[in-house]
Amino acid sequence: MIEQRPLTSRYRGMDENAKALPGTDPRVLLASIVHDFNNFLTPIVTIMEELQSQKVGSPTQLKRIDGAIFCAFRAKTLARQLLDFATPQKIEPAMVDISQLLESLEPVLASVLPAPIIIRLDVADGLPPAFIDRQLMERALLNLVLNARDAMPDGGEVVIAAAIGRRSGSSSQSREPMIRLSVADTGIGMSPATLRSAGAPYFSTKSHGTGLGLAMVCQLMESQGGGLSITSTPYHGTAIDLWLPVMPSSVVGSR
Ligand SMILES: Nc1ncnc2c1ncn2[C@@H]1O[C@H](COP(=O)(O)OP(=O)(O)O)[C@@H](O)[C@H]1O
Ligand SMILES: [Mg+2]
Repeated sequence: MIEQRPLTSRYRGMDENAKALPGTDPRVLLASIVHDFNNFLTPIVTIMEELQSQKVGSPTQLKRIDGAIFCAFRAKTLARQLLDFATPQKIEPAMVDISQLLESLEPVLASVLPAPIIIRLDVADGLPPAFIDRQLMERALLNLVLNARDAMPDGGEVVIAAAIGRRSGSSSQSREPMIRLSVADTGIGMSPATLRSAGAPYFSTKSHGTGLGLAMVCQLMESQGGGLSITSTPYHGTAIDLWLPVMPSSVVGSR
């Protein structure tokens, strides 16, 4: 059974409910704590890497140092994600050639995937340029590919496809042609309950998940006039569709 749902960022709702100290924006407070947290982690990682490279200690102790470095890196990743989530990003949309973006990003994305996972690009011919913030898109794609990796512990395929399409919905804006950039995997898929909760801040089914990836990607897409929808079939796979605005003048040219 294929289940599909458009995702709406719940970030604003969370903000409304947040209890702020008088005169303190909770996001600013969170961002400053996370920033300090990250700064404290940096010397920990550096010192442990020094110990590791100098091979200080017995083989068992060195193994424990490896584990500690792994955990410290995870903590840094979590801090980075919290910071992304807490601080509204400065968005600088510009004309972006999606085909070129994906080609330049493919080696980076492939580098985070273990060997039994294959990555493939499928970009429609004559795709108009998108009007988006390139850096934010790169972060969004990395998050989705990492989720695809986690969903395929025994290997599989990630296909990143881009084509022009119309997002189903009622607003006139959503009827405009947009670029549908989808990241589809052949992984475990989502149960209906997971599909309902995926994208809610802090929702995660993973033992070490942060539950901030999809929420952040959804927020990034909405802030650029785009959107996100999820299609998933349990035990078969998941496709996350990102809807990107087309560069205005090229919409006219492509009709
Ligand atoms: N490609 C996917 N396949 C299956 N489940 C997914 C996929 N992407 C996201 N999910 C589900 O959505 C949850 C939230 O994802 P995310 O917000 O990225 O947080 P995290 O990866 O830290 O768990 C995941 O824990 C997982 O249950
Ligand atoms: Mg994730």
